[in-house]
Amino acid sequence: MKPIRLLVIAGSERAGAYSRRLARVAAAAARRDGCDVTEFDLRALALPIYDGDLEHASGVPAPALQLRDALAGHDALLLVTPEYNGFPTPLVLNAFDWMSRIPATAPGGAGLAATANKPAALLSSSPGPLGGLRSMNLLRQYLQGNFAMIVAPQQFALVKAGEAFDEAGALKEAKSQQIVESVLAALGDLASALKKG
Ligand SMILES: Cc1cc2nc3c(=O)[nH]c(=O)nc-3n(C[C@H](O)[C@H](O)[C@H](O)COP(=O)(O)O)c2cc1C
Repeated sequence: MKPIRLLVIAGSERAGAYSRRLARVAAAAARRDGCDVTEFDLRALALPIYDGDLEHASGVPAPALQLRDALAGHDALLLVTPEYNGFPTPLVLNAFDWMSRIPATAPGGAGLAATANKPAALLSSSPGPLGGLRSMNLLRQYLQGNFAMIVAPQQFALVKAGEAFDEAGALKEAKSQQIVESVLAALGDLASALKKG
């Protein structure tokens, strides 16, 4: 892929999370291609569940600004999502919902200004036979429709994720690795084309 500044986010940070493992595989591939990669931990932000009263009383929690700044400081986002009841995880939705509430008057600007026209690509993973495909398609809609992100059409759902990784954390199937890299390549091309602008 073309060397870009790439932000990688996993939709689950639990110990052994398949989405985190897949995110690590993608991050390593992007680094091999010369990308400047940041693996961003959404759980470490420790954001409360969105609450309008909390927002009214004390504004958007400061950690949400870290997500905005990370997005603003990178050329593109790779988001790797698990699936909960067919949906993206609360960890992702809550963080992005909070970020969307950062007003233009905040130091550093609006949350939505950091995402507008920012290229993104999606991967998903699940131990099941659909590989989290439904959550990925909903995330596409969420990021495009509400955050004005430009989501690459290329995507990949890793099915049977419980059997997909070897002990070193690599994908056992060469074909899966190839598809992950093709999604990254598409994202690199998109980000580079938009940068030339
Ligand atoms: C609340 C909940 C709902 C789930 N719903 C789905 C689902 O709709 N489809 C699916 O493939 N797996 C589902 N799973 C199983 C997850 O895919 C599995 O727990 C997976 O390991 C979570 O992602 P992670 O490994 O990245 O943490 C669900 C798990 C939880 C906890």
